[in-house]
Amino acid sequence: MKQRKFYIETYGCQMNEYDSELVAGILEKQNYNPVDKFEDADAIFVNTCAIREGAEHRVLSRLGQFKTRKETNPDTVIGVLGCMAQNLKEKITSEHQFVDFVLGPDAYRNLDTMMEEYNHDEDDEDKRINTRLSRHEVYDGMFPSRKEGINAWIAIMRGCDKFCTFCIVPYTRGRERSRSIASITQEVKRVVEQGFVEITLLGQNVNSYRYEGKAFPELLEAVASVDGVKRIRYTSPHPQDIDDHLLQVMRDNPKVCNHIHLPVQSGSTEVLERMNRTYTRAQYLNLVEKIFQYLPNVGLTTDIIVGFPGETDEQFQETVSLMEQVEYDSAFMFKYSARPYTKAIEFDDTVPEEIKQERLQTIIKLQNEMTLKNNRKLIGQSVNVLVEKDSKKSDRQWMGRTDENRIVIFNKNGEAQRDIVPLRITDAQGVSLFGEQLN
Ligand code: SAH
Ligand code: SF4
Ligand code: F3S
Repeated sequence: MKQRKFYIETYGCQMNEYDSELVAGILEKQNYNPVDKFEDADAIFVNTCAIREGAEHRVLSRLGQFKTRKETNPDTVIGVLGCMAQNLKEKITSEHQFVDFVLGPDAYRNLDTMMEEYNHDEDDEDKRINTRLSRHEVYDGMFPSRKEGINAWIAIMRGCDKFCTFCIVPYTRGRERSRSIASITQEVKRVVEQGFVEITLLGQNVNSYRYEGKAFPELLEAVASVDGVKRIRYTSPHPQDIDDHLLQVMRDNPKVCNHIHLPVQSGSTEVLERMNRTYTRAQYLNLVEKIFQYLPNVGLTTDIIVGFPGETDEQFQETVSLMEQVEYDSAFMFKYSARPYTKAIEFDDTVPEEIKQERLQTIIKLQNEMTLKNNRKLIGQSVNVLVEKDSKKSDRQWMGRTDENRIVIFNKNGEAQRDIVPLRITDAQGVSLFGEQLN
């Protein structure tokens, strides 16, 4: 079979990164090799994200560039994958005729057939589009093609049943479903054999994992028992599903990292209620307190949305005060973006763009100050850092992460990638930490 080349560009969350690796696995079986530039590819894929309007715009303008490639090389296959597929299916194929096919996140098993028949009749929409969502698809028995590395992503559940009123994910990714522990641990063994030492378990709602009576804490233990796994992380959990059992396992199992990404979204109970987040400010703060009781040095990070419809100045100030109280290590902060299908798109008390922007700037500044303040407190402390790669600034320095997911830069002294190195923190600048070897 003729050797051909593919290029894939990925937007959005780590689940999409993982899915791109699944797609790469399928393509490599068909004798396609990956390339780094779309200009060199026989097949171009874009794995899309629909979480905010901005994410969609970026993809649409990128598609314009791929179109030019198609005009000069008409045999190039162009496929749109991922979360926008669901949302924009007809628009993509009608307004972007150069797109050969559209596959949603549950349809990648059809990639083989799509590739064989890609240049079918342009009017036959049914053949070009497959965005059907599945109640069962977890891609068991398919092996993602990963680039060499330290950390391997492994999807353990897909979809979301929470229906936060701002969020498009339940519509683009469908209903929650989990993979069996056996198939997950099989994948873990395989990536360990390939040299990966850190596993990050992925799910839109990772801790609502449930399979034949087994829940997320039991899965963590099963993964930790695989020889060769040095560290385990997971993302993103929902506060509602964090229980004592999970915190016990995190405390008692040294391989499970001391980090929780705990999206809060807002510090105002009224806003949380309109968001359908299922907890109040007080319940969230109680949970944070409980987490600190189990895991006193935990790294705590979050996601925050400003300018949700109806958010008043006072309610925004409650987000600010919650951030000050919790003192997160870091946060992903977003302006609310109205999304199709969601409940919140019907709310007409929208917050003006300038106010959203102002609120976003306020919390970004606050978070940067708090990150630096938290980091300064770490100066003099001992940490264990897993060596990942050269630091951005110099190949004489390593960049690695602590158990708490904090990034530390330090001078090389005979260590290798994948080693866990004991360090003392010596300095904190901007959002970075610096360290030196303990012995
Ligand atoms: N399942 C995860 C989050 C997945 S989406 C959870 O519930 O925590 C990642 C983040 O994007 C969300 O936490 C939220 O902060 C942000 N987000 C989702 N929809 C958004 C929207 N419509 N506008 C702005 N930010 C949004
Ligand atoms: Fe979206 Fe909420 Fe589900 Fe997270 S829990 S994916 S924010 S609906
Ligand atoms: Fe985006 Fe889909 Fe992930 S909408 S954030 S790629 S689940």
